[in-house]
Amino acid sequence: MIIAVDGPAASGKGTIAKALARHYRLPHLDTGLLYRAVAFAVGQLDLDPEKEADAVAACDFEERMLEDPRLRDDRIGRLASIVSAHPLVRAALLQRQKRFAHQPGGAILDGRDIGTVIAPDADAKLFVKATPRIRAKRRHAELQGRGDLTSFDRVLADIRQRDERDSSRSAAPLVMAADAALLDTSFLSIDSSVQKAIAIVEAARLLQ
Ligand code: DC
Repeated sequence: MIIAVDGPAASGKGTIAKALARHYRLPHLDTGLLYRAVAFAVGQLDLDPEKEADAVAACDFEERMLEDPRLRDDRIGRLASIVSAHPLVRAALLQRQKRFAHQPGGAILDGRDIGTVIAPDADAKLFVKATPRIRAKRRHAELQGRGDLTSFDRVLADIRQRDERDSSRSAAPLVMAADAALLDTSFLSIDSSVQKAIAIVEAARLLQ
């Protein structure tokens, strides 16, 4: 079974995807990490994230970079949003994601274009959303927990800017697949969100 979980930054899609992976005992890939690794490598190599050729040169990052906790920084998330808009960067990471999705036994992937580009044939597709303000609140609390004192307004502005960039790019923009189920986590606890996600997957399985 392939499960696709898409949605904007801080919507809760990563938490939901991890919980689904545990529930169904499926391997999980956080595809945002791949773009974050490219962004990080761009910085390390002193390249320009806005230049497609520079970003492509950074796609050959070392595997162990995916474990680096610095990939989770908001600065890297911003840069990831920039490098991920280049079609050739997306092309460079495409086969790896498709292979992961179509491994024997199935898989669960979360990102922006899983249901539309990476696994349009997924057995269950979820599109996770929450209002920008609520996502900013969650991200702000998470940053504070890590000792990062970025202001709420800055976090909110950042979320809005990333939404705009991820949704308006021409290559695989963030859009809900026509056959995805919408899960709005704005007013749901993590537990309720996960329960709803499982119900969506079960309903999709019944339709198979
Ligand atoms: O989910 P995230 O915040 O870790 O993703 C970081 C950036 O990577 C996001 O702003 C857009 C890009 N991304 C993408 O374009 N396609 C994906 N499947 C996953 C992430």
